[in-house]
Amino acid sequence: MNIVLLGSGNVATHLAKALNAKGEQVLQVYSQNLLNAKLLAKQLNAEAIDNLAQVDQTADLYIISVKDDAIEHVATSLKNVNGLVVHTSGTTDISILSSHVKNGGVFYPLQTFSKIKALSFDDVPLCIEANDDNQLQILKDLANKLSDQVYELDGAKRKVLHLAAVFACNFPNHLFAMAHKILEENNLDFNIIRPLIAETADKVMDNLPESVQTGPAVRNDENTMNKHLEMLENKPDMQNIYKTISSSIKLMSK
Ligand SMILES: NC(=O)c1ccc[n+]([C@@H]2O[C@H](COP(=O)([O-])OP(=O)(O)OC[C@H]3O[C@@H](n4cnc5c(N)ncnc54)[C@H](OP(=O)(O)O)[C@@H]3O)[C@@H](O)[C@H]2O)c1
Repeated sequence: MNIVLLGSGNVATHLAKALNAKGEQVLQVYSQNLLNAKLLAKQLNAEAIDNLAQVDQTADLYIISVKDDAIEHVATSLKNVNGLVVHTSGTTDISILSSHVKNGGVFYPLQTFSKIKALSFDDVPLCIEANDDNQLQILKDLANKLSDQVYELDGAKRKVLHLAAVFACNFPNHLFAMAHKILEENNLDFNIIRPLIAETADKVMDNLPESVQTGPAVRNDENTMNKHLEMLENKPDMQNIYKTISSSIKLMSK
């Protein structure tokens, strides 16, 4: 399959490398920043472009993997292509494409991707959606090449999944960053806490998270929580998060 990749960020990079490894041909990589496009295109033996007017009109598949708010703008440049045009966003409706291109679809990988961390696509849940059965079959065949976990999901379900993903991934990672800050300010190494982070994630592989909640909030250890809040006196943002999450833990454990 001949593919044009629109975007050169985290998802675009991982997806392009995985597709390339399965023998799919990425023809072009578009980025508004030519250097970014070149960096990725070089690894794929593809052409780097920074102008949407240069997009090859004859590809089989166009993957738009830019920030959600820019998807529509990129899609408007693909109104004359006959190939399938997909985006990779969790919360963006398929209709944002359908109103601009002939054949629109969604190819949403439910995983956290960062350019600096390699990962295997084998068990990345791939959520696909298309406007007709033929296009859905094309996406299904492609997704099955990449992963053992392929789901046909409509936009409403995909949005719910993305919301859950923000709570399961983006927020915990931000809390890890706060833990790092607290440790760093007190000359303690982040490595000390890594086994705790690993066990927290590992425990929910076999248990529901609410059944393995630990800590002062679930025990209702008021004195300990008050001491922690005192330690955060000069950090009102962290103090608010501490209070909000502790209240939520108490509510859920009732
Ligand atoms: N990262 C994840 O874990 C993840 C997981 C699943 C789905 N997604 C979805 O995948 C898509 C890409 O996310 P990402 O995390 O890969 O983003 P990212 O790493 O931040 O990359 C964003 C890309 O968008 C481009 N861009 C930004 N503004 C643009 C504009 N006005 N016009 C054209 N291009 C523009 C950037 O181009 P420049 O490099 O030129 O600035 C960059 O290539 C999003 O729809 C996101 O919701 C992300």
